[in-house]
Amino acid sequence: MVDLMSIQKNAQQIAEAIASVLGIDVEIADNNLIRVAGTGIYRDYVGQSMASQGYIYREVMRLGYEIVIDNPGKHELCQPCEQKGHCSEKYEIVYPINVDGVSIGVIGLLCFDDEKARRVKQNQDSYLTFLGKMAETLALKIKEENYLKGLVYSNRYFKSVIDCLEEGLITTALDGKIVHYNKTAQNLLGKKVSSSDASLELLFGSKRAEEIIDVAGKGQKVLEKEIRLDAGSEKLQLMIHARPITAERGVQGIAIALNHFTKIKRLVNRYSGNEISYTVDDILGSSEAVRRLREKIKSIASSNSTVLIRGESGTGKELVARAIHNCGSRRQGPFVAINCSAIPESLLESELFGYEDGAFTGARKGGKMGKFELADKGTLFLDEIGDMAQYLQVKLLRVLQERQIERIGGLSPIPVDVRVIAATNRDLEKMIAQGEFREDLYYRINVIPIDVAPLRERKEDIEVLCRHFIEVYNQQLNKEVRGMTEDFRRKLWEYSWPGNVRELQNAIEYAMNLADGDVLSVEHLPVAIREAQEQDEEETFKLDMLERRTIVRCLKRYGTTVEGKKKAAKALGIGIATLYRKMARYGIKDVDV
Ligand SMILES: Nc1ncnc2c1ncn2[C@@H]1O[C@H](COP(=O)(O)OP(=O)(O)O)[C@@H](O)[C@H]1O
Ligand SMILES: [Mg+2]
Repeated sequence: MVDLMSIQKNAQQIAEAIASVLGIDVEIADNNLIRVAGTGIYRDYVGQSMASQGYIYREVMRLGYEIVIDNPGKHELCQPCEQKGHCSEKYEIVYPINVDGVSIGVIGLLCFDDEKARRVKQNQDSYLTFLGKMAETLALKIKEENYLKGLVYSNRYFKSVIDCLEEGLITTALDGKIVHYNKTAQNLLGKKVSSSDASLELLFGSKRAEEIIDVAGKGQKVLEKEIRLDAGSEKLQLMIHARPITAERGVQGIAIALNHFTKIKRLVNRYSGNEISYTVDDILGSSEAVRRLREKIKSIASSNSTVLIRGESGTGKELVARAIHNCGSRRQGPFVAINCSAIPESLLESELFGYEDGAFTGARKGGKMGKFELADKGTLFLDEIGDMAQYLQVKLLRVLQERQIERIGGLSPIPVDVRVIAATNRDLEKMIAQGEFREDLYYRINVIPIDVAPLRERKEDIEVLCRHFIEVYNQQLNKEVRGMTEDFRRKLWEYSWPGNVRELQNAIEYAMNLADGDVLSVEHLPVAIREAQEQDEEETFKLDMLERRTIVRCLKRYGTTVEGKKKAAKALGIGIATLYRKMARYGIKDVDV
């Protein structure tokens, strides 16, 4: 708070005004008993401490009201005073200066001769009133100074607050002239915003500027715009939000928030849990199987039916689920994933369905939303559904049938609009036979089955995947690998990839870490893959021979005419093109059959 000393000039003026009106000397002291102002003999002592003789002043400040001493030395307050008996004053009025109930100083009116003392005594009431007004004047001045100081402070405070924002912020007058801008805005736009003639028109061009001024100037809430502009050598893509600034007298100006586009995307993805919105184009592979997979995803994406994705671990099941979500009509909604095998059984139920306040000991106050509710209007991905406990399978089935959930401990059902995509690497049919998976749930989720083939059955994809992962790790590890040796390629081809694409990705990451030049070669591969060769080759060989024999047997049955081959392909569950490709691969000629 501002003290009396900082308005010393005003205090001296008041002291002199009082002295000239009343013809009596005056001093003003602050709450540290420093003389702030004085007239007559006191003038020379301004700035000095009067702590030793300030006994009465201290009392007045403590009490908060005025004291009149009409018989110095005899007054009860004079008794403890060090100056008692040596004091030349005849009469004294001490008036407190109170600001918001706190005394910050006093005005002392001091008479040294009997004549003046008599005059004051006779007019005591009006003198008191006058002193009261003067004290009030000083108090008001202090308040005003406080207020101004507060304004300056809050101005600085808010300026540094808006400078902290990662969002650029500018404010303009209603003609588009820029009034304020924060640091981020300056960093983004440089001179365009800081020069003295900066305006919306210079920033965004006249058409955009007019539109902003028109919309926000009318007091309409928010205007969102995507804007591209040149800032120095850089091209900027910004998202701007314009809002009217309104005060008592209506719209006073326009506030414009500026956001860099890349930052927006990053934020959206971070908070929606989708690091990147994977689409079908992110499912790489040149094989027939992957091509068909992409087509299938596109064709079923917009349906609401439940999908069951089957495939070994690491084949890309989650990728497929995300692609389905991002291709379909629910892509604006949330994609919520939950792994049924990673969460303890006892928690899975509440994770899925949520619970009400006080549903069980340890339940969070106010209850908790389950994944089903969180995924409302979006997609729920139930990974590893084969690992779900039986009683939860029953509950899940009911939810899928009734399209509503009940929180644990909840009284009324909550409708949910969720598309469920389930995935598993387990043999559900076998589990059903053994009574481990409910048949009714199986039929309910298996409306659209999608199989993702293991990598060893689509080795053509290895090349594309490798090139992709090399690019990814070039970026991440700051390397410049451009290719692979033929030996490296052959090793990847011969290996059986039990961990599928995930294992391939890890192998490339490993190799990239070891690579020192611009090609990956065999010695960069993890030992397991480098040395797995013989055994795996043998296995693949056996498998291949089995496939070859099956094809030959089928062709024997249906014949090698075009019609026969069509029938054979159908019987084998493959396309006619695939049959031709396999025949070529295994070197099966019509005459061999
Ligand atoms: N066809 C593909 N194209 C690109 N990346 C893939 C492909 N299939 C799998 N991946 C990658 O391999 C890893 C494992 O995939 P994921 O979907 O988690 O497999 P799953 O759920 O079947 O275990 C992920 O990093 C994923 O991005
Ligand atoms: Mg997975």
